[in-house]
Amino acid sequence: MPTSKIEERFMLTTTDDEIFINNFSEDVKIGLASESKYLPFVYFYDHIGSQLFEKICELPEYYPTRTETNILETNVDDIVSRFPKETALIELGSGSSTKTRILIETFLKHQSLAYYSPIDVSRQMLEESSYSLLKAYPNLEINAIAARYNEGIHQLNIQAAQRKLIIWLGSSIGNLGRSEVTTLLRHIQKIMLPNDRFLVGIDLQKDKTIIENAYNDSQGITAEFNLNLLTHVNRELGGNFNIEKFDHKAIYNEKVGRIEMYLISNIDQKVFIRDIELEVCFKANETIHTENSFKYSLDDIDTLAEKTGLYVEQQWFDPERFFSLNLFAPSID
Ligand code: AVI
Repeated sequence: MPTSKIEERFMLTTTDDEIFINNFSEDVKIGLASESKYLPFVYFYDHIGSQLFEKICELPEYYPTRTETNILETNVDDIVSRFPKETALIELGSGSSTKTRILIETFLKHQSLAYYSPIDVSRQMLEESSYSLLKAYPNLEINAIAARYNEGIHQLNIQAAQRKLIIWLGSSIGNLGRSEVTTLLRHIQKIMLPNDRFLVGIDLQKDKTIIENAYNDSQGITAEFNLNLLTHVNRELGGNFNIEKFDHKAIYNEKVGRIEMYLISNIDQKVFIRDIELEVCFKANETIHTENSFKYSLDDIDTLAEKTGLYVEQQWFDPERFFSLNLFAPSID
């Protein structure tokens, strides 16, 4: 039986992989020295960036968070009723685990104990969010894993007989390129037993203006979030970026079905990054590509499932069909 002591209901596994997670200096050097300059989106999420992202999720123009939460709230009984008692809930990129509470609460309505395994690269985030969940739910046990998704799913300490519901919410799938997504989903499919399921929140293709407004909000929070990447480089690597000399821009590339986020130098300028001894020259209007956010069609989702040994067992939408929650099952071959 569970004890209400938080420490006894919490386990944190860290992997060697953790040391490879943040190769910040190397990544910045490669990205800014390349002909078309870029910076990997993962470096948005320092402390300030994570706080700014929480603010983005509340913006009136940023529909994904609100819409996904509504779909989840409306359909959570249907989702949870598909799983037996003692199902292990596993979350990729759990972040602050806010939406997960909806699932945990529903599981706990039907069973006396719930099992939750969040996988996230940020150990600090895992500790903070786990403690807050364990405090709120005395019948919850958490086995958290600080790792990248690929490595994390291999560390899962779940009994063979226990059913798994793996979740990946927030449309984070959209920030990965098509081939990275395929590789990851194949990995996940490999660890799934026939009755396990994978629930993924995916943002859908829609009117260009709605999407572009979501990434160019009127309060300028997304701009701050994007520009904070340069502040992050200044702080961690001794850079001298003047963020006033860069502008934020997000455009929807309809051909590829993705938002592309850029920082644009508004003058000819030189920037020096001390710790990596890199001088970076910018022409006026030259860009740094900082993020892609892919939007899927329903056909894209089917094709992705097919390519990765999965099929879509059930889909849930909001009334406007802005967003989708997809329950993937392993194909039987
Ligand atoms: C985390 N991710 C799903 C967000 C997105 O919509 O692609 C990140 C973001 N970038 C700008 N606004 C939000």
